[in-house]
Amino acid sequence: MPRVVDEVVKELTDVFRTASHKRGAHADARPVLEQVSRTPAFLSEALEAYVPTTEALNRSNYPVIAVPIASNPYFELVLNCWIPLPNRATHISTKAIHHHGTMLLSTATIFGPGYEHWLFTRPRPVDTQGTRYRMQLLEAAKHPLHHVAFVDAWVAHVPIYPSDASITLALWSDSSPTTWKDYVKRIPALKRRDRVLRKLVVRAGLGNALAVKVVDTHDFYPSPTGFVPMKQREEFPLGSNEDHLQSLFCIVQRTGNEQIARNLLGRVDQLALKNPATVVRLAGQVTSGTPVEGRLSAGHYDLPHANFTADSIRESLNALEN
Ligand SMILES: [Fe+2]
Repeated sequence: MPRVVDEVVKELTDVFRTASHKRGAHADARPVLEQVSRTPAFLSEALEAYVPTTEALNRSNYPVIAVPIASNPYFELVLNCWIPLPNRATHISTKAIHHHGTMLLSTATIFGPGYEHWLFTRPRPVDTQGTRYRMQLLEAAKHPLHHVAFVDAWVAHVPIYPSDASITLALWSDSSPTTWKDYVKRIPALKRRDRVLRKLVVRAGLGNALAVKVVDTHDFYPSPTGFVPMKQREEFPLGSNEDHLQSLFCIVQRTGNEQIARNLLGRVDQLALKNPATVVRLAGQVTSGTPVEGRLSAGHYDLPHANFTADSIRESLNALEN
């Protein structure tokens, strides 16, 4: 019987192949993504394929754990696992206000309470030097379980930290039509590209990775006199592998996939792991039902231009209202 993940990827591929344009494809993909949020087997299969690998188990810590699902000429599909702040605060941004250039994103919350998502109009400079930008708030709304959101090209946005571990399924595509070039460029280096993509995912989160071809992508942070652009993205420092493992096994446990930890314990010796003792300890905690908490690393939630309060965004919006 075909795996649920394979069926979903095929369904989405058919949607993109037959749609007349990319935004139409995202609209048609919405019910598919919504259905995934009601199909726990999808999450189990994705985690079963990913977690017991050296790649997953040897990663350094990044605030969001990205689990690649599919990559083809039409779209990229990835799970993003969001770890809450240590104090569970829900008024701090997870990253800078940003847009993804020409990329289109559909996102479905498939596990947990989900985050609050702020969407803005396209940022416009308010002075000739471009030291401050103006944008208006389009929406500040929950992105709860089963909810599917669409983020159009150039739309500035920012997710706010969730109250508890949450997982979103992100469907990315370019906004321009898929052409023969999208196929040709994949053929000779398909495997290498997947490897490169995963590397980028680890380093920067998928959205950033896919927006590399956009030259004038800006990140923004709020100030009392308007939004300040950053030509250069301030990246989060990578945390330890131990912290990453803590979050990874938290996700395995919280999603009820103890079988992954149980099966892993039988084959830890076959994997070239950085920290086999930590893997064994955490997998043991999962199998015995001892709670494993996710862990953000130092520098993951106190970067001044990435982690700011909802109030400071409001202040910046109000500063240039007139
Ligand atoms: Fe984003």
